[in-house]
Amino acid sequence: MDKLVHEINNPLLPVAGATIDEQQLWSRIQETLGPKLLETEELLHDFTLSNVPIMQELLDHISGSRGKRLRPILLLLSAGFKPANDYLLIKAAAAVELIHTASLIHDDIIDESSERRGRATLNAGFGNSSAVLAGDFLFARAFELLALCGDFELNKLLTRAVGTMCEGEIEQRNCSYNFQLTEEQYLRNIYRKTAALMEVCCSSGARLSKLEDNALQQFEAYGRNLGYAFQIIDDVLDITGDPSVTGKPVGNDLREGTVTLPVIYVLQDPQWGSYLEEVISAGDFSSRSLDFLLQPSCIEGPVAKAVEKAALYARGARECLRDFENNPSKTILEDIAGYVLQRKR
Ligand code: IPE
Ligand code: IPE
Ligand code: MG
Ligand code: MG
Repeated sequence: MDKLVHEINNPLLPVAGATIDEQQLWSRIQETLGPKLLETEELLHDFTLSNVPIMQELLDHISGSRGKRLRPILLLLSAGFKPANDYLLIKAAAAVELIHTASLIHDDIIDESSERRGRATLNAGFGNSSAVLAGDFLFARAFELLALCGDFELNKLLTRAVGTMCEGEIEQRNCSYNFQLTEEQYLRNIYRKTAALMEVCCSSGARLSKLEDNALQQFEAYGRNLGYAFQIIDDVLDITGDPSVTGKPVGNDLREGTVTLPVIYVLQDPQWGSYLEEVISAGDFSSRSLDFLLQPSCIEGPVAKAVEKAALYARGARECLRDFENNPSKTILEDIAGYVLQRKR
């Protein structure tokens, strides 16, 4: 599968607009949210403890490598426009990260993926049954945290988002090997599996800081647009990414017959479409066929077109924040929209 790793002359930069200094972005996030992020981490630690050693072993494996914490960051930044109740905010931030992590554990089972965040997935290391239960455990802990918030609406919105994510995952499964999948169907699926959670992260932050309804909808739309951009880039990285940076294998989508946006664009190409269909249907992921497929003349156009689409959503996300006062949270949210396009992990 290593043959899937191809440098495509940095296709992400030309359409992404101004380049975001990622190091500086993470430092600004730390400066702005520092103590809140720290408290979120403490809560994540406390809520991933179990008295049952075998469960703790699974939880330790998960906690052993951290993700980007994007969802709690989005929630906390969206609460940065009016004073909020930090007690509730931190609990909600930890809850969304637990929901996200649980969904990844289950996603890796479904996708039969072997690596996540640079280490073996739970399903690869401990088997599917253990992984299902660890994912369930984290969902349960997330809802316990939400119950402690005592905010009925917050609870309802996040619970509904989890249901929507399940619908997205099952729809995607149902669409695998469907070479007629339209861009519209693809977008509907990624809204459900990815954008819905980001949407509710942002609206929850805004809600907890008591923003008015129309402002709240703007944050919701920011999260939704960002989610679309984020997943499209994730699907590009499944082809062009470097596994030592993404921490997960490349080529997983192809292997599972998952038709993603860059794949849709290749399938539409009269010269390459039927070849790709053959490769996926035959499960022929030998380096020879992949090398052929990953020739710049086949893949560069579809990848650039997919990134352009992601850039449209990222721009849409930034637009949603236009009417809000300038403050560090707003600048960071705007830059996150740019970062998502150029991210390598
Ligand atoms: C991965 O999300 C799943 C997708 C929605 C594509 P992230 O890339 O945010 O995962 P971590 O938490 O940083 O590992
Ligand atoms: C996102 O889809 C998974 C969830 C939203 C749960 P992917 O299957 O593309 O995510 P990765 O690539 O495994 O992280
Ligand atoms: Mg996956
Ligand atoms: Mg992916």
